[in-house]
Amino acid sequence: MSATGQQRSDPRTASVEPRRPAGSSDKRFRAARVSEIPPGARKIVEVEGRSIGVYNIQGAFHALRNVCPHQGAELCKGLVTAAVVSSGPDDFRFEREGEIVRCPWHQWEFDIKTGCMVVDGKVRTKSYEVTVEKFGVSVEEDYVMIHL
Ligand code: FES
Repeated sequence: MSATGQQRSDPRTASVEPRRPAGSSDKRFRAARVSEIPPGARKIVEVEGRSIGVYNIQGAFHALRNVCPHQGAELCKGLVTAAVVSSGPDDFRFEREGEIVRCPWHQWEFDIKTGCMVVDGKVRTKSYEVTVEKFGVSVEEDYVMIHL
């Protein structure tokens, strides 16, 4: 039993009991160990027949469907970059470095945290809730879990 009174089990063999955050389904899947996706990195995983990109942005994990809503490119293989913000002609600046993915086919840009297109939030790819589950004794042994 853990300190919270819940029994721990071996993540390699145990089925995962749902602990449902608000608004998510009860299906969750191990995507990677925390140590596999350091800050600034991403990993593409297959879950239930879906290709999903898992990103670590400054220690917080986010997951996007690896399909661009424009013409279906593998969005998560695109460059991770910053948002370009402008108040008018001759003015621009970069914000939110590492939070935007640019589709490799036609360069549409999406917010990794929400899945929404930067210039039109109604256009989006699916984003998934991600949690970190503790199974081992060290942080590196924790798992990044995707909620479908
Ligand atoms: S397929 Fe992604 S921008 Fe066209």
